[in-house]
Amino acid sequence: MRHLLSPLDLSIDELDNLLDLATDIEHNPDKYSEACKGKKLATLFYEPSTRTRLSFESAMLNLGGNVLGFSSADSSSAAKGESVSDTIRIISCYADICAMRHPKEGAPLVAASKSSIPVINAGDGGHQHPTQTLTDLMTIRSLKGRLSNLTIGLCGDLKFGRTVHSLINALVRYEGIKFVLISPNELRLPDYIRVDVLEKNNIEYIEAEHLEDALENLDILYMTRVQKERFFNEEEYIRLKDSYILNAEKMALAPKDMLVLHPLPRVNEISVEVDNDERAVYFKQVQYGVYVRMALILTLLNITIE
Ligand code: CP
Repeated sequence: MRHLLSPLDLSIDELDNLLDLATDIEHNPDKYSEACKGKKLATLFYEPSTRTRLSFESAMLNLGGNVLGFSSADSSSAAKGESVSDTIRIISCYADICAMRHPKEGAPLVAASKSSIPVINAGDGGHQHPTQTLTDLMTIRSLKGRLSNLTIGLCGDLKFGRTVHSLINALVRYEGIKFVLISPNELRLPDYIRVDVLEKNNIEYIEAEHLEDALENLDILYMTRVQKERFFNEEEYIRLKDSYILNAEKMALAPKDMLVLHPLPRVNEISVEVDNDERAVYFKQVQYGVYVRMALILTLLNITIE
């Protein structure tokens, strides 16, 4: 039995196979429409979500399976004090696979250690968000045609942004990857990623405070929101929340083939006027999220379709 707690739980070959499967699903959805008949996915969401929870549910329904779960800690027995370890033992009796989002880093790992069904980390605190990474990789591979030899600008809250941490972990395994880390000083990438992942793997990176200065050399610009829910001090959040706003004027400084990704939700960091720019692919990215989650469910349940 396998879990997905970090993007590194998949080897490069497994990742490539999963993205190939997701692409086949994109082009041949009918082939997979009964692949999970009789199977159940549980979504255990202790934190708010729109995309991750609903795309998992959509993925399982597209595969002919069923879904159950809860969308907030308050509506589960966590509100009465039940532990994650006990909850997953219960859910293992009800479902074949589960996706868990939790505000505490490592909660899905704890769940996996007690689970008799595959556990998928759907975001744990400021730590990792591996299925967003699968979504991001499929978006880049589908629209750029490659996952190597790319210069990627990561902009916004690099301290708390778990999607950024997971994406870096995944991309450093490809050839010719360079990063431009664009953030206010207070929201710089933590050392456990900058030193232990980038520097340890000899990945070229620079840090910048101004988005305008970074744009002209980018293949991908990955925007992120400032993660209000991770701040202890509201004044600090208010001071930093609008550090970067991508607008048409800034897009004019960027290469004609640069893609703009965002894990969403967006707050102010991308002006709506950018939505009509053909380089803005964050809504296409959402659709890819369904295909990769379908591929992931099939992979973890060991279901193959000829
Ligand atoms: N990208 C993402 O995780 O969105 P949700 O918080 O809506 O799931």
